[in-house]
Amino acid sequence: MNRTENQMLIIFGASGDLTARKLIPALYDLYLGDFLPENFAILGTSRSELSDEDFREKVVTKSPYLKDRLENGDKKRLREFSNLLYYQDIGGDYAEHYGGLKERIESLNRDLGTQGNYIFYLSTPPNIYEIIAKNLAEQSLSDDSEGWRRLIVEKPFGYDLKSAQELNRGLQRYFKESQIFRIDHYLGKETVQNLLVTRFANSIFEPLWNRHFIHHVEITNAEQVGVEKRGGYYDKSGALRDMFQNHLMQIVSLVVMEPPISDQPEEIRNEKVKALKSLRIMNDEKVLFENTIRAQYVASNLNGQTIKGYREEQGVDPESTTETYAAIKFYVDNWRWKDVPFFVRTAKRMPTKVTEVVIHFKGPHHHIFSSAGVSEKDNKLIIRIQPDEGILLKFGVKVPGQGFKVERANLDFYYSSLVETNVMSAYERLLLDAMQGDATLYARADEVEAAWEFVDPILDYWNNGRDVRMYGYSAGVWGPLNSGDLFDGSYSWRNPGENLADDPGFCVIC
Ligand code: BG6
Repeated sequence: MNRTENQMLIIFGASGDLTARKLIPALYDLYLGDFLPENFAILGTSRSELSDEDFREKVVTKSPYLKDRLENGDKKRLREFSNLLYYQDIGGDYAEHYGGLKERIESLNRDLGTQGNYIFYLSTPPNIYEIIAKNLAEQSLSDDSEGWRRLIVEKPFGYDLKSAQELNRGLQRYFKESQIFRIDHYLGKETVQNLLVTRFANSIFEPLWNRHFIHHVEITNAEQVGVEKRGGYYDKSGALRDMFQNHLMQIVSLVVMEPPISDQPEEIRNEKVKALKSLRIMNDEKVLFENTIRAQYVASNLNGQTIKGYREEQGVDPESTTETYAAIKFYVDNWRWKDVPFFVRTAKRMPTKVTEVVIHFKGPHHHIFSSAGVSEKDNKLIIRIQPDEGILLKFGVKVPGQGFKVERANLDFYYSSLVETNVMSAYERLLLDAMQGDATLYARADEVEAAWEFVDPILDYWNNGRDVRMYGYSAGVWGPLNSGDLFDGSYSWRNPGENLADDPGFCVIC
């Protein structure tokens, strides 16, 4: 295991929702798991006026996100953990100089022995990332000559290619690229990382992982919820920016990439960038019309409950043309993937919450047995990212009895069967990696830009294209009526259920 050196984590935007909802519970789990170094402190900072004790109460002892733990008798440990937390006001504005903050950091560092090692976590709106980086640098807090300094930034990383490039340049003015950690919480998911292991730790999949054996690749990310209380943010973002450009492009890069020469962060990230750069960019309006579908959920009645349409949600423009459903078909222009279509979709207000990658293998080139329903019976490898995390391989078996009737069976693995193993939450894993300086699961500048390069023309077409459409779908169905139009021939989306083996197979081999 890597070593976690003594250090201090300084959270900007510490009075915000993300700190209480994700960061502090993840840090508490690291504390319980004994992953924190001996000398460790969390210093929250924001514009709110809070004392150390107010902050501890807000995000730990009275936090709704740790309520269950309190009720389950963790009181003593929670109290011990909360003593690791401190708070310092930043002043009226993040743009003010950080002299006060620096003094507090240095005095805590002296008292607690955190050895000048600091991580700055920016859980603030992205438009102030650069000013924070600048102010930190002005106080020599980015200078890692006496202890290391790291900067973690949250998504969204840019609004389009140009703004992402500007942000990269802006941050790199004050911190070196090796100090910048761009978080994408999907990379912290165990099952996303398992994509690499499935591909490169087995000798049975990789020989088939190419255009000769794969018919197409399908990736679904569905959420049952709508935009909830984030209408204001979401309406300026949409499914393509909110999920596709980051989380789904990361998954695509892991499916598409070539084998890295080792598991070193830069080796893996180099291959991911190459993968993203090989996606065929769609610029032609006809191509974009035929290969992209956007839609919005409309009001519906579901199980006797009325569900609001997207345009009626709080904070959303009643005439909004922001998509809550995005489905894209594209190709990858390289040796391995030539002519293999990728179908990737993400949406809110779907029938269930599920994320999965489905590798559809080509059928046998000569059919000996009855070929009825071939697409139904093709070999599929389903990598379930959430929920019911696991892997399922579908293959044909003979139905007992006369003749050769073929049915489909499932070979499966479920993470839940690893009862002994504590699976870390995404934030827990990613925070620990950053604390140890491991950037493998963080996005590099060129990776983010390559993803934007692919997404930008689609956004541009959706905003300005002549014949672009916005379809509607009732909350609780699998997208608009024409959502299958991206496929030709006998295929369509696999609309997965909550459980990995949701469709009746002939038998399950445990
Ligand atoms: C976030 C998006 O990045 O991911 C949200 O901003 C989305 O809109 C969330 O709901 C989904 O994350 P998960 O881990 O629940 O699939």
